[in-house]
Amino acid sequence: SDDALVIFTPSGKRGRVAKGTPVLAAARALGVDLDSVCGGRGICSKCQIAPGYGEFPKHGVTVGADALSPINAVEERYDRIRGLKEGRRLGCQACVMGDVVIDVPAESQVHKQVIRKSATERVMEMDPATRPLYVEVAEPSMHEPSGDLERLAAALESQWQIKGLQADLAVMARLQPVLRKGNWQVTAAVQEAGDGTAPRLVALFPGYREAPLYGLAIDLGSTTIAGHLVALDDGRVLASSGLMNPQIRFGEDLMSRVSYAMMNPGGAAEMTTAVRGALATLAEALATEAGIDAAAVVEAVIVCNPVMHHLLLGLDPVELGQAPFALATGHALNLAAAEIGLTPIAAGARAYLLPLIAGHVGADCAAVALSEAPETREDLSLIVDVGTNAEILLGNSTRVLACSSPTGPAFEGAQISSGQRAAPGAIERIEIDPVTKEPRFRIIGNAHWSDDPDFGTPTITGICGSGIIEAVAEMRLAGIVDPSGLIGSAEQVGTARCVPMGRTHEYVIHDASAEGGPRITVTQGDIRAIQLAKSALYAGARLLMDEMGVDKVDRVVLAGAFGAHISPKHAMVLGMIPDVPLAAVTSAGNAAGTGARMALCSVAARRGIEAQVRRIIKIETAIEPRFQEHFVAANAIPHATDPFPELTA
Ligand code: FES
Repeated sequence: SDDALVIFTPSGKRGRVAKGTPVLAAARALGVDLDSVCGGRGICSKCQIAPGYGEFPKHGVTVGADALSPINAVEERYDRIRGLKEGRRLGCQACVMGDVVIDVPAESQVHKQVIRKSATERVMEMDPATRPLYVEVAEPSMHEPSGDLERLAAALESQWQIKGLQADLAVMARLQPVLRKGNWQVTAAVQEAGDGTAPRLVALFPGYREAPLYGLAIDLGSTTIAGHLVALDDGRVLASSGLMNPQIRFGEDLMSRVSYAMMNPGGAAEMTTAVRGALATLAEALATEAGIDAAAVVEAVIVCNPVMHHLLLGLDPVELGQAPFALATGHALNLAAAEIGLTPIAAGARAYLLPLIAGHVGADCAAVALSEAPETREDLSLIVDVGTNAEILLGNSTRVLACSSPTGPAFEGAQISSGQRAAPGAIERIEIDPVTKEPRFRIIGNAHWSDDPDFGTPTITGICGSGIIEAVAEMRLAGIVDPSGLIGSAEQVGTARCVPMGRTHEYVIHDASAEGGPRITVTQGDIRAIQLAKSALYAGARLLMDEMGVDKVDRVVLAGAFGAHISPKHAMVLGMIPDVPLAAVTSAGNAAGTGARMALCSVAARRGIEAQVRRIIKIETAIEPRFQEHFVAANAIPHATDPFPELTA
């Protein structure tokens, strides 16, 4: 007969095609995901396939060595210059000549799962919105007076089935020189956002572009801005960097920035300018660190809390400072990156902002929800992202609830007498001997404990957030602090470590004041600040548990850079989190950053989190009277009434 059976693995898709059909065309006809950037011209090698020969009893076929056409001149040339792996063929050149079984290796699929090397890194689903497409464009002529953009659009339609191409003015401005430089052969970066909007020309490169396109995943926090530069072909991270949010000079925390905007005409605009400048600096730094051309960065995904979101977009955050905390918009946005000042990258690059969950619960929390996906699990997860505000998610496959809780900056070492940000010299681990009450500690940047001779004589600068949590928990375990949070109500008063300070006491961790060095203590005020912060966190979690109708959870996930450093045991001794077996407390690292990368690499992830955010049930802590009750009861260490059986176990 004139046709032949083609079976693709691993998809299992099969069908009959006319003999002589190129494998790439057969794959397209049968809906098989086989990559191509050059459109079948034998240039890109993205279409590689591996034919199988012999008996395939499962499929009921026998495949002979002549099932595919012999290697042609294009393939031979490619193999000679670039080298084809053993057993591989170019799918755009090899034609089906008989019944055949064809394997599409993972790297030849556009939509692929990329398994990362380290165990903590999750599988990245690749399904990028913007793809490089090589096209050959008709030259202009006196007889056919169409514009260059129209001819490019026609070429993309006939060669890639891209219909109704749109282009921003910024891209149009670069179109003509690039088309001529490439001699009418160009690689177009085209975004298909998958949200019903027309395909969009994002960037254009002369000739066939060998290197991949890139994207930025940015976690815009109120204190720090962290970014990753990611290759959009396989999701690998080429550079990571961070900088301080320059808005800090307008106010340490979110509410002080909202008040700055309220009190100062033009204040919001000043903060908008500051943060946009920082994003541009970060984009440039990342491209330099990765050694790539910033003009090939075609997408950015940004996650942030609602106030950061509004200030970045140039929207007045004033409504977010007062009930009912109305957002200007909470929907996901797909904007021209240049509109938010991301100009060092491709002129037509797009920026995607994840949806906000509620007036207090931002796109950063949505990114955590995307990364941790509690709705995919049967067991009940409590996920806390601890920063200046704690974002809390509670849920399983039946439903997911979210709230945010005003923990304040104490967990980050702010408003603590010896507190500081996590930096070399900061105490991050501490143990207190329950008998002698003597402390030993470790500082950031030094692998040794302070009682180890190898510790040396480093400068000890203060206590960071995880350090203060351990210090207070250890003080409680050693009996230096009582359940109400009072220092020195027990027999320790008068020991060298527990000394009077006004009408209260303080615990001395390190004292180099005799030599003019620092004196690092935990004061009664510090304990109170930690109690307020941890009560707020616990009360938020309890409120969600009430709504869910449960009094225990199955697992606790600590997210955020800080979450990665908290010791689960000490968090539970303090009563920051509800009682669960210690083994059920895990750290998700920077889950918001992971969620941003997932959205950067996958259109399906974007649609997924947009739908999930609509389903998440939002709980507003500020108007919930039970929040206040829970807050008061959670002030005790670990808690006034709730049992903590796992602590005594
Ligand atoms: Fe580019 Fe085959 S599609 S080499």
